[in-house]
Amino acid sequence: MPEPVGGRSALVTGASRGIGLGIARMLAGRGFSLTVAARDAGRLATVADELRCLGASRVVPVPGDLADQAYPAVLATSHRDAFGSLDCLVLSAGVGTAGNLADFPVERFDKTVAVNVRAPFLLVQECLPLLRAAALAHPDRGARVVALSSITGVHAEPGLAAYGATKAALNSLVETLNAEESGRGVSATALAPAYVETDMSAWVRDVVPAEEMIPVSDIVELVAALVGLSARSVVSRLVISRAGTTGFGA
Ligand SMILES: NC(=O)c1ccc[n+]([C@@H]2O[C@H](COP(=O)([O-])OP(=O)(O)OC[C@H]3O[C@@H](n4cnc5c(N)ncnc54)[C@H](OP(=O)(O)O)[C@@H]3O)[C@@H](O)[C@H]2O)c1
Repeated sequence: MPEPVGGRSALVTGASRGIGLGIARMLAGRGFSLTVAARDAGRLATVADELRCLGASRVVPVPGDLADQAYPAVLATSHRDAFGSLDCLVLSAGVGTAGNLADFPVERFDKTVAVNVRAPFLLVQECLPLLRAAALAHPDRGARVVALSSITGVHAEPGLAAYGATKAALNSLVETLNAEESGRGVSATALAPAYVETDMSAWVRDVVPAEEMIPVSDIVELVAALVGLSARSVVSRLVISRAGTTGFGA
């Protein structure tokens, strides 16, 4: 394994749009070197240019589909070859699917599980040696995983059976990672927001207006705080609900 290069590095999935892009911009502004991932190669290349302008020491775009079982290893290997260690793994890519449990097609269920659970599981597995290396090099701050879960993974929502189940699984994965690795300086946080104003929530905007959704900038603020914590603090889950709701719905 190559020696870690100077400065901090992060790998961000879903970096081309929405929440992942907001987080990648924040990390770039703090001088992180970045590996960025999404399917659309053209868009990812444009985003990589923007992130360099914002201050990222180096940006490596690695386009691919997280439904492909082989892609997480490709991402981790590329990051290792470029940077040698990994201070922050951001799991933002996800697929949103609505439909009642009674007649939800199994093909769509399998795709949702592959992107929202299997890919994060494999990415954490593949990146653990790199995260441990960063935590060993900087035991004071350790290394962090930030996973975009959803409030539906904590409080069930009618019509979001498959999506909610994948996010509940992600919450569990984060907790297990903390139980197994936080003593060695690698810890994880599941961010579980209600509707955030991005492309993913556009379908529900006639019921929940954009101005009542959580802005991406609020999620970014929370991630900025998480990457500033010492390795001594573990935050397994943050639930972010929308003002004016009971706090238990999307
Ligand atoms: N928006 C909300 O209301 C909300 C609420 C709670 C939780 N979340 C969660 O937050 C995360 C980010 O959501 P968002 O609102 O930012 O979504 P978004 O605006 O739709 O962006 C999704 C990002 O993930 C990438 N992506 C999607 N499918 C992919 C795949 N199969 N392989 C690789 N990359 C893929 C997209 O790029 P390409 O299309 O180019 O692949 C894009 O960069 C998701 O995990 C979502 O479940 C969102």
